[in-house]
Amino acid sequence: MKNRPKDDFFAHLEDEGIGVTFGDVQLKTKYSTVRPPDVSLVSRFSRRVPLKVPFVSAAMDTVTEYPMAIAMAKAGGIGIIHRAMSPKEQARHVTRVKRYMNPFIPDPICVFETDTVESVLRMKEEKEYDFDTFLVLNAHGKLSGVLTSRNFKHCLENEVYLTVGTVMARDDLVTAHPDTSFEEAFQLMRKCPGDGIGLLPLVDESGMVAGLYTWKDIKRRKSSETEAYNTDTDGRLIVGAAIGIGDAGLAQAELLVLEDVDVLVIDAAHGDTETIVDMVRVVKKEFPDVDVVAGNISEADAVIRLIQAGVDGIKVGQGGGSICTTRTVAGIGCPQVSAVALCERAIRYTHKDIPVCSDGGVTESGHAAIALAAGASSVMMGRIFAGANEAPGDIIIYPDGQRFKRYDGMGSQSAMERSSAARERYGGNGSGKTVPEGVEAIVPCQGPVANVISRFIGGVRSSMGYLGAETISAFQMRAEFRRVTEAGRREASPHDVTVIPFSPISK
Ligand code: IMP
Repeated sequence: MKNRPKDDFFAHLEDEGIGVTFGDVQLKTKYSTVRPPDVSLVSRFSRRVPLKVPFVSAAMDTVTEYPMAIAMAKAGGIGIIHRAMSPKEQARHVTRVKRYMNPFIPDPICVFETDTVESVLRMKEEKEYDFDTFLVLNAHGKLSGVLTSRNFKHCLENEVYLTVGTVMARDDLVTAHPDTSFEEAFQLMRKCPGDGIGLLPLVDESGMVAGLYTWKDIKRRKSSETEAYNTDTDGRLIVGAAIGIGDAGLAQAELLVLEDVDVLVIDAAHGDTETIVDMVRVVKKEFPDVDVVAGNISEADAVIRLIQAGVDGIKVGQGGGSICTTRTVAGIGCPQVSAVALCERAIRYTHKDIPVCSDGGVTESGHAAIALAAGASSVMMGRIFAGANEAPGDIIIYPDGQRFKRYDGMGSQSAMERSSAARERYGGNGSGKTVPEGVEAIVPCQGPVANVISRFIGGVRSSMGYLGAETISAFQMRAEFRRVTEAGRREASPHDVTVIPFSPISK
C-alpha cells in the first residue's frame, strides 16, 4: 500500500498520544498549475452512492427532512433524512425526494368520476399529497379525464359536493402507449403541450392507465441546471435515510428500500458495538443492493469490524459536533482530524474501497477542506445547514430583529423527550438511561442552503488550487499538514481590526 505524506504526520502524533482537530492544523501550499474553477469536487458518500460535491446534511430533526434533502441533492450533495419520526412518515419523505425529478410515474394516483371533489380534497390532505392533478377513471377503471388545480379552483366552496366527472377536463387528452420512453414523451409533449394540462398518461389497448409523464418534470430534467444535480441512474435525486437497530430498524429499512432510498445510514452514537456490527451484517444480507453506511466511530481498529460486516461507507466522528457534549459527559472521543486520518488509513490498509464521511465539528469551509485532505470523501454537517431556509422549524425573531432557527443535538434533553430514536441513539440502547449528550441551541438564519453550499464549494476549490490538486483523491495524495500554535491560530483569523458585521467572513 502506498503511503501518503499525511500518514506519518498523524501516526507520529498518535504514537505520542496526541489527537488534533480543525484549529490545530493547516495545509501546506504546493506548487500549483491548477485554477480553483477547474477542480472537480466529484466524490462518493459510500461505495456506490456518488456525490457531485462532497457535502452531506446530518440526520437530525432540526436539519434534514425532504425539503433539505431535495436542496442538498440539487446542489450536488446528499441529505440523510432523520429518523425521529415514524418509519412510514420517514418513507414518505424519501418518496418526496425521489419523486421530485421523476418525469415518469409508474403508478399515478387516480380518482373515480363518481368521487366528490370534497372526498378528493380530503384524501389529498390525509395522504399529504403535494400535487393537485389526478387521473380520472370511469366505472370500468378506464381513463376518462384529468382533474387539475384549475378544476378545483372553478369549483366554488359550496360546490365541493360535485362529482369529479362533472368538473374534470376530458377534451384534448393526449395519451401514449405503455412503453413510451422518456425521449419519446419529451418529443410528443414538446409538439403538443398546448392542452395546458402538461400530462401524458400512458394507456394500454384496453384503456387502463399504465403510467404518466409530467411536462413540468420532463422540462426540469432537460434543463441545463439539472447537470449539477446529484441523481441516480434513472435521473431521480439521490437521498439517504437513517435507520435504528434490531427488528424495528430492519422493518424501517424495508419501507425505505421500497421507496428506492439510495443509502441506509445506521445511526448510532457508538458504532463499534456488537449491536451495530450485527445490524450492518443483517441489513446487508437482507438488502445487498442498497449501500449501508455505519458509524459513528473514531478509532482505527473499529473500521475492521465494520468492513468485515459488509459496510459500504463509514461515518467518523465522536464528540466533535457543535451541539455535542459527549466528550464532557463521558470523557470519550478523538479530535476529528486525527480520527478521520487514522480511520481512512486503516481502511486503506485493508485494501477495501470504502469511503469515509467526516461527521461533525465543521464551522467554516477551511475545516471541510482539511477533513477532505485528511482522507474524508465527504463531510457531514448539522450546524452549518440548520439555519438554512430548507431546515425544518420556524424562524425565531428576537426583539432586536435578528433571525434564528432552532438547532438541537439529537442527544439533547428535548430531542430525547420528543423522539424514541434519539433516546435509542444516545440513551444507552433502551436501558432507560437518559443522560443528555447534546444541547439545545439556536443558529442564525442563512437563506437558501444553495448559498451556504456555494460558500463551501468556493472554499474547498480554493484549498485544492493552493495544493495543485485537480481532484479530491489528488488533494489527499498531495496534502501535508503542519500543526499551528496558539499564536498561529490567532493569526489565522482576522485580527487587530473591527470586522464589519454581515460580511461573509463574519458568518
Ligand atoms: P455539527 O455539524 O458540528 O453541528 O455536528 C453534527 C453531528 O453531530 C451530527 O451529524 C451527529 O453525528 C452529531 N450529533 C447530533 N446530535 C448530537 C448530540 O446530541 N450529541 C452528540 N453528537 C450529536
